Amino acid sequence: MRLLISSLGLLPALLDVICAINIFVSHYQGTLQSLTVTPTSGGGYTLTTNGTVIIGGQPSWLTFDSASRVLYVSDEGNTGSLTSVAAEADAPGGAVANVLYGNKRYVASVNYGSSLLTTYKLPLSSSTQTLQNMKLTQSAKGPNSRQDVPHPHQTVVDPSGNFLLVPDLGADLIRIYSINSSSGTLTSCGNFVEAGGTGPRHAAFWGDKTLFVANELANTVHRFSVAYSGGCMTLTKEQSLNTMAGGKSAPSGTKVGEVHVHDNFLIVSNRRDLSFSPNDSLATFSLDASTGAMTLTGVTSSGGTYPRTFQINKAGDLVAIGDQTTANVVVVKRDITTGLLGPQVASMRIGTVGQAESDNGLSAVLWDE
Ligand SMILES: *[C@@H]1O[C@H](CO)[C@@H](O)[C@H](O)[C@H]1NC(C)=O
Ligand SMILES: *[C@@H]1O[C@H](CO)[C@@H](O)[C@H](O)[C@H]1NC(C)=O
Ligand SMILES: *[C@@H]1O[C@H](CO)[C@@H](O)[C@H](O)[C@H]1NC(C)=O
Repeated sequence: MRLLISSLGLLPALLDVICAINIFVSHYQGTLQSLTVTPTSGGGYTLTTNGTVIIGGQPSWLTFDSASRVLYVSDEGNTGSLTSVAAEADAPGGAVANVLYGNKRYVASVNYGSSLLTTYKLPLSSSTQTLQNMKLTQSAKGPNSRQDVPHPHQTVVDPSGNFLLVPDLGADLIRIYSINSSSGTLTSCGNFVEAGGTGPRHAAFWGDKTLFVANELANTVHRFSVAYSGGCMTLTKEQSLNTMAGGKSAPSGTKVGEVHVHDNFLIVSNRRDLSFSPNDSLATFSLDASTGAMTLTGVTSSGGTYPRTFQINKAGDLVAIGDQTTANVVVVKRDITTGLLGPQVASMRIGTVGQAESDNGLSAVLWDE
């Protein structure tokens, strides 16, 4: 545990902003910023920096608890950490995502490089120890060269709050754990086994009974129906679609990034597909109101290169996109009736630009709401 002295003064101020629309942005160079989004009289928006904190390391992922106004930051650097506001618990390097669970009394973190799923009791403090530290395994190497060992990429809690899912890119698994919310303990409840070379990366629940998973290696999005029996969760695959306009295959080098849902719509980011060269794209799908069946309805520019991260605001009328390599935050309008993304209304460079395929540049964006 190390105290982040540099953040102690600034971070409370940074987190104290509630009246304006703000976006939190992390950059792999070790910074966390708050940007203010201001509408202009011409119908556009401006982005201005509203506070910067040097947190060090390589921040890779943000989780925001709006009730307590605490940000949980994963560190992908060699000396990894899980940071909350000003305290960091030592953790192995390579952490790529985290999630709160068990009535926000615990946090689960996944480590891409060292195949770990680690949990901690909150709040993080100088005496924080890991609650569980599970080294994930796989029975054999997968067909893709990146599938030699498990690569857990995200942690997602189901709508009931009783199960935690881990898409594992290396093992081609969606790992399912039951949560004991009083002890914080996770217990394996089996896995959904994907076809070799799928590379599940990120997931999002829609309603109570549907799960969508974005697959980085196959460049597809899968729809699952969710069922509960015998104290466990089971997934049944219902649909697989690729994420390019006209259903064509993704160009070589494309890596699907995040997936998010809002009302009866879904958005997936396509990293390095160059659909709007030199920029990449976001694909929008409409969802059948009863089954959740996906139909691709639009592909629009991400306004930069390598859209690692994006988030739809609560109102659903704006999307913040973080383009990793060009290190810019882009805001686009979103039509709440059609779900389609409009033109870019603002863009701002943050810190230094990254290099393609490297862990540098911009890493995460979140609406402060
Ligand atoms: C951030 O924005 C809010 C609202 O616009 C403002 O009150 C506050 O002073 C700003 N904070 C910083 C650190 O600039
Ligand atoms: C959950 O954890 C508590 C506290 O350790 C324990 O008493 C209880 O039996 C556990 N529940 C289940 C279903 O395992
Ligand atoms: C690419 O993104 C930049 C920055 O947002 C923008 O200025 C430019 O017009 C975009 N180009 C295309 C072809 O979309």
